[in-house]
Amino acid sequence: WMAPAAALLIGYLLGSIPFGVILTRAAGAGDLRQIGSGNIGATNVLRTGRKGLAAATLLLDALKGAVAIWLVSRLFPGDEQLAAAGAFIGHCFPIWLRFRGGKGVATLMGIVLALYWPIGLVFAAVWLGLLATVRISSVAGMAAAVSAPVAAAAFGRFDLVALLIGLALIVVWKHGANIERLLAGTEPKVGRKGE
Ligand code: G3P
Repeated sequence: WMAPAAALLIGYLLGSIPFGVILTRAAGAGDLRQIGSGNIGATNVLRTGRKGLAAATLLLDALKGAVAIWLVSRLFPGDEQLAAAGAFIGHCFPIWLRFRGGKGVATLMGIVLALYWPIGLVFAAVWLGLLATVRISSVAGMAAAVSAPVAAAAFGRFDLVALLIGLALIVVWKHGANIERLLAGTEPKVGRKGE
């Protein structure tokens, strides 16, 4: 049981690093949790007007998921899915922020790219495609998350389907406030001043 527990813990510790909060504070742009949606992800960093910071947050939040899987594949081969689950849970429920973490989209992208990159490509295509057309980050993120288990099944990676269904459900559940805003017609679009 030691290796699975270690894989989960390594994933959790990496996943729980709140890069959005850290970078925004380091740049002197304030407390991200007091800005916009209050979320700790790249979309909300973008609302500070700092595009570079948002891009760095997206990259690092994705990277921590991928790094957790890579590290565990070296140390405890066979426990990669536990590393993925740990990193995702760490991002969404970080102990350092009293378990109030992010919504999991960027970290999930890193996870699927590392687990089986073709799923990552589908994820990125759905996410970027909807971001470019619908221009609503929550819609793009939720759709990309839901596409991951579908893509896994389509590619014959049935071993990944249960994990990815679980993570997609958490992504959608974490977007509760966004879903309420979408239904009310008040969810902001990305890339527009003052929104
Ligand atoms: O990845 C989070 C995104 O889907 C929504 O972020 O700040 O608009 O709630 P936000």
